[in-house]
Amino acid sequence: MEWFWTGIVRVFRECFRIHTQAKLDERQLGRYFTTPEHSQALIQALNPVYPRVLLELGAGDGALVAAAARRWDKAQVVTTDLYPGGLELPHDAPINHQHFCIDALEVRLPELLALRSKSVDVAVCNPPYFRPEWRPSFGSILEDAGLSSCFAATKDVTIDVLFLAQNLRLLRSQGVLGIIVPDGLVAGIKARQLRQTLVEHHGISVVYQLPPKAFRGTDARTHILVLSKTGGPARFINVYELQRDGQLSSGIRLDGGQARHRLDFAYWHHKIPGRARHLRGISIAELGGSVSRGTLPWRQAKELDIGAFHTVHFASAVRSRKVYAKRTTLPSTNYRMLIYAQAGDILLGRVGRHIHEQVLRVVGPGLMPLTDCVIRVRVPHEYQEAVWRFFDSSFGKEWIKANSRGVCARYLACTDVLESGLPLSLGTAARG
Ligand SMILES: C[S@@+](CC[C@H](N)C(=O)[O-])C[C@H]1O[C@@H](n2cnc3c(N)ncnc32)[C@H](O)[C@@H]1O
Repeated sequence: MEWFWTGIVRVFRECFRIHTQAKLDERQLGRYFTTPEHSQALIQALNPVYPRVLLELGAGDGALVAAAARRWDKAQVVTTDLYPGGLELPHDAPINHQHFCIDALEVRLPELLALRSKSVDVAVCNPPYFRPEWRPSFGSILEDAGLSSCFAATKDVTIDVLFLAQNLRLLRSQGVLGIIVPDGLVAGIKARQLRQTLVEHHGISVVYQLPPKAFRGTDARTHILVLSKTGGPARFINVYELQRDGQLSSGIRLDGGQARHRLDFAYWHHKIPGRARHLRGISIAELGGSVSRGTLPWRQAKELDIGAFHTVHFASAVRSRKVYAKRTTLPSTNYRMLIYAQAGDILLGRVGRHIHEQVLRVVGPGLMPLTDCVIRVRVPHEYQEAVWRFFDSSFGKEWIKANSRGVCARYLACTDVLESGLPLSLGTAARG
């Protein structure tokens, strides 16, 4: 009987190993599949062109290409994926379909797909999410797509940008691309130059912000972007929120300058005039204030044991909404340029999933060093109450949500906190 149980355990272990390995492979390849509702929304957002050649790089189980193929059932369909198997097209989908199990980041992709370069009419894409190890050939891909001047360092080039570049290489002039991209491309500071290039040269027309948890197994914030290769600048760019039930919010129309700044619906929605029309927007900079990030890495702060304030400490002051700065002598540390908080300062979490809940006011007679995950807002005494009331309000929390950036964990940039117009309720006495 013992042999029976040993056999069962062995089979169970093997199944578990295969399952774990498959999950690992899936994570490594960034296999997060688009839902039928979002696939449908992406296809509907593409202009009513009738493509001869339809392309999808990284097709996964075929959710996007299936929706496209239903709409354009006579098109020649070309798909790729690195992962063998799993692609399913509906029975009523096109007959003219070729699938290639190859690396979409190959510089010779047009030849490998037997496609004439620049012959694709419509491309759809939901690139994987992970940071690829840099290869010299990626430089040639970016160069050929006209994106090489968009990044200061190779470490800033994410895999979605490389997939975008490959699509641009393969699309014909005025060919249309519907692509799902992470928040970094749409709102990140490092992607500003790329946004500028896409807005000015490739006619971005529509951006849909997808609902939270649009992909199973990740919290990544993502957007659908529709552009037309070498389509020049679109007169306006419409940004929407795609709701969980597949309905679209009303749109917000952006001009080129606004689009270069950011393309995320949440940010512009928060800025809609009228929500706080009675309050004039005024920035911390205009108030003569400053916004600084702490300097001490948390690990070092723990070693030095000098009572530094870090994001973990926000939780212990949830009720009182304040933190007491008691250190009256400066620590004797050779760690130079520490940033300290003092009474009247406001502390904000700089990075994390819940930074909109990390808002505190500093009280007490002393100084408190800050780690590099904390932002200090300091304004002249007469404005402290108004600025605190704003950040401590539900509107302030919404402001933090809308103005933070990032795909999973969100982060606040000091310049955004310093320069954005905040709808502060300033008394006439305070304004002077
Ligand atoms: C985020 S999934 C999207 C799948 C599908 N397009 C969808 O929207 O549901 C990304 C796909 O790209 C594939 N992939 C990852 N790296 C690749 C590469 N270098 N070349 C081709 N496909 C790749 C993964 O196997 C995965 O199927």
